[in-house]
Amino acid sequence: MQFSWSPFKRSFMTSMPVIAALGLTLAACGGSTASTSPSASTCVVGSNTSLVKLTKTKGLKVGWSQNALDGAWRYAEESSIENEAKAAGYQLVKTNANNSDDQQVQDIQTLINDRPDILLVDPHTEDAEAGAVVDARKACIPVIIVDRDVNESLATPGRDFATFVGSDFQKQGVMAADALIQSLGGPKANATIIELTGTTGSSPAILRGGGFDGELASAAPGIKIVAEQTANFSRATGQSVMATLIQQYPKINGVFAHNDEMAIGAITALKAAGKKPGTDIKVVSIDGTKDAINLVLAGEEYAVVSSNPRLGPLTFQAIQDFAAGKPLPAWIVQPDHVYELADGSAQAYLPNAF
Ligand code: AHR
Repeated sequence: MQFSWSPFKRSFMTSMPVIAALGLTLAACGGSTASTSPSASTCVVGSNTSLVKLTKTKGLKVGWSQNALDGAWRYAEESSIENEAKAAGYQLVKTNANNSDDQQVQDIQTLINDRPDILLVDPHTEDAEAGAVVDARKACIPVIIVDRDVNESLATPGRDFATFVGSDFQKQGVMAADALIQSLGGPKANATIIELTGTTGSSPAILRGGGFDGELASAAPGIKIVAEQTANFSRATGQSVMATLIQQYPKINGVFAHNDEMAIGAITALKAAGKKPGTDIKVVSIDGTKDAINLVLAGEEYAVVSSNPRLGPLTFQAIQDFAAGKPLPAWIVQPDHVYELADGSAQAYLPNAF
């Protein structure tokens, strides 16, 4: 499992206020001196995002590039963004890339041409949309990255975008590993498991996988991953991939799925293969959907690590702070938790599940 940036870099970036990027000169950003300001900002073409000043704080036009609308998590995120835009009295211009990198790059170009005051991007994968984010910066449109990150060596917070608002996916992977280790008997357990990974190249797949694999190897070396395969964060694909894998590895003791949708599909496939998820095969996944929490309450899934999709409040607070000229941190972290049956946490969380 590949890491695009180390935990060290992440924590360093977190503690680095974006205002520090003011130290970069306009010239260093490769900009010309001609000013082509969007309607509500002052900006020198090509300049550092942190040097862009919005000239109004009310009635902003906000562009929103969503990577897909294909499951409970994404619908909850979309509603959260829509609700906060409405509450702030902002105009929201939305696109949906339907899980296509090409479509999302095109969407971002269309939104840039529409000249929003600020652009929100939830990138499908880490590398593919980074160039379009840099294009927005060059066009003097400040960008906030929401939920999934871009590859920060290709587009940098404080220079190419104002901030990243989202969960700590690597920590989620560590929490998922700890829960699965516990379900399989603790650090000394000997067991075999399957890992269903998310969309290849997306930051949650890279970081959840990295966090999980690293924690498993160091905390419970007797638990081995016998198969690791993508199911693209999809319930249907999770089901079909697991239907095949369980024939090849009928003796597995556990499954880690990078999201709830894939876990739900996997549980359906395991039952169809005559297995008893929750009893002979322990399952752990990430998100916090109602469907998955109900499986935890039914004893068929061991634990769910939340990945809160309600990113609207933090994102729109960041927009307001940016508009007011306040410095933003490189990363605004959405905290997450583990929900399981045994300690009552899944039951307590259920009313908030989405
Ligand atoms: O980027 C967040 C992930 O994307 C969620 O875990 C998943 O359900 C969605 O597809």
